[in-house]
Amino acid sequence: MIKRTHTCGDLNKSNIGEQISLNGWISKRRDLGGLIFFDLRDRYGITQIVFDDKQYSDSFKIAKKLGFEDVIGITGIVISRPDEAINNNMATGEIDVVVEKIIVYNESEPPPFDINDRSSASEENRLKFRYLELRTKELQYYMKIRHDTTLAVRKFLSNFNFIEIETPVLMKSTPEGARDFLVPSRIHKGKFYALPQSPQTYKQLLMVSGYDKYFQIVKCFRDEDFRADRQPEFTQIDIEMSFVTQDDIINLGTLLVKSLWKNILNIELTDKFPALTYQESMEKYGSDKPDTRFDMCLIELSDYIKSSDFDTFKKILDNNGRVKAIKSPNASKYSRRVIDDLTDWIKTYHQAKGLAWIKCIDGKLEGGISKFFSDDLKNTMIKNLSIKDDEILFIIGDKKNITLNALGALRLEIAKRENLIDKNKWSPLWIIDFPLVEWNEDNQRWDALHHPFTSPNLDDMHLLDDNPASVRSYGYDIVMNGYELGGGSIRIHDAKLQSKIFDLLGVEKQEAEEKFGFLMNAFKYGAPPHGGMAFGLDRIIMLLTGSNQIRDVIAFPKTTSAMSLMDNSPSNVDNEQLDELGLKIK
Ligand code: AMO
Repeated sequence: MIKRTHTCGDLNKSNIGEQISLNGWISKRRDLGGLIFFDLRDRYGITQIVFDDKQYSDSFKIAKKLGFEDVIGITGIVISRPDEAINNNMATGEIDVVVEKIIVYNESEPPPFDINDRSSASEENRLKFRYLELRTKELQYYMKIRHDTTLAVRKFLSNFNFIEIETPVLMKSTPEGARDFLVPSRIHKGKFYALPQSPQTYKQLLMVSGYDKYFQIVKCFRDEDFRADRQPEFTQIDIEMSFVTQDDIINLGTLLVKSLWKNILNIELTDKFPALTYQESMEKYGSDKPDTRFDMCLIELSDYIKSSDFDTFKKILDNNGRVKAIKSPNASKYSRRVIDDLTDWIKTYHQAKGLAWIKCIDGKLEGGISKFFSDDLKNTMIKNLSIKDDEILFIIGDKKNITLNALGALRLEIAKRENLIDKNKWSPLWIIDFPLVEWNEDNQRWDALHHPFTSPNLDDMHLLDDNPASVRSYGYDIVMNGYELGGGSIRIHDAKLQSKIFDLLGVEKQEAEEKFGFLMNAFKYGAPPHGGMAFGLDRIIMLLTGSNQIRDVIAFPKTTSAMSLMDNSPSNVDNEQLDELGLKIK
């Protein structure tokens, strides 16, 4: 082997005349007869190397046979490039290396796609050959940012006296609410470990153990529907603290995010991130993870509907439903056909029964459902809602949740179409005062919105028995540019309150004992008041790198159908293995 003296990103004018050695992959190749040029690539950069038949014919003969992605070592002399060949966009663009000696470590089969052009291959092909995709400059950049970020997190938290403690991967089922990945036990046939959806129970136990500032960069596993920002296997920055209030955790989370943006992007975020209550966020943006880089807030229409002749929407209001709207520019772009397509989309994906509209043309409200509004009413609306010419109101009337969520989704869609999102803007915010519970219509029970250990807001305790839906929790999320970056809560540390919450959630005593008895028991031995949160590391990296696809920032990700195309997992196992585990495939 030729031991490298430099990397492929190192050499510049100051090295001219030196004898150096490099290792790397052949990335580009130009054969000019008596001269052959290669771009030699490693993860630090690219250096152009030259084989000259006249000077070093042995090396030249070897180079003649080589092709893309062959991996080689060379020794040679650094020379300056002729002026016309200088490339100021490359760190090594002013020099070449004339190769004296070459060793070929391995020849590559023709690669299935061009490593210099990631977009030349389908995603399926890239995932199948992920180890090759990881050679591309895009993925190498993502992996480097990921490394820099985890390092910065560890430094930041250590400076605040946090210590990192690892918790088990084979464990008892956790209460995050997604489906578990199960691992059958060979020794205890018929019994299963669960992979952690988060280290929630362990980190609370660590508070009982007196580790008042804990963190962990930890793999979590959830078997749920996967999207552009969700993977079955993802990484959290998991944090828990004792003797703290919600504000303490929000302050720490703000500082952590600020320090990452400063460290990685050299961007100074505001000292305080705005906080919106869950209700405010839903009413204003139709989402609990609003993208606040642009306004286009939801507009309340109930008063106008009540004064109109539009019975369908009036009935919806009578039945406790909601009618709200968003206002978009460029009404003339929204032809009947475009609106029909948007209507189909909103019906199919967002459960709304329809999409109504009114346009403002030459200072008058026209088209769509405008006929149900008197001229007076229309003028009042133009004035009060500041509707301008060539604006269109998109209106949804439905059950409250459907109206808010569907308009929230439409708000994002219209913002994309109208190019309203400033890609250079960062809009972090906290969402606070989440409801403690939500009614699960299918199972006719109350479900915890966060998890069952989240503390109710003590000011709302009097509502717990008669009006659980209006009880706020000490739960909070941090949101950035429309992504939920993290979330957490102040926990219940009082056994009586915990059992009251289990009662509310319909968790039987025996079930609570079986599932969480170990935690409840621990709480008998001096549980400090505590709380914490977890950030989605992959989502943070997505934002820091400007990627909009979580798969980009995970070295070996799964597809949306939870497959690894590279090693073909999940895969079948031998009957023998199943027998050993006492399992039979149905
Ligand atoms: P939560 O379930 O909100 O809280 O998760 C915390 C953060 O983890 C990220 N995240 C995901 N990222 C990628 N793929 C997924 N499938 C996925 N699921 C979640 C999100 C989310 O905000 N134990 C609590 C935290 C606590 O209370 O301390 C928890 O896990 O960015």
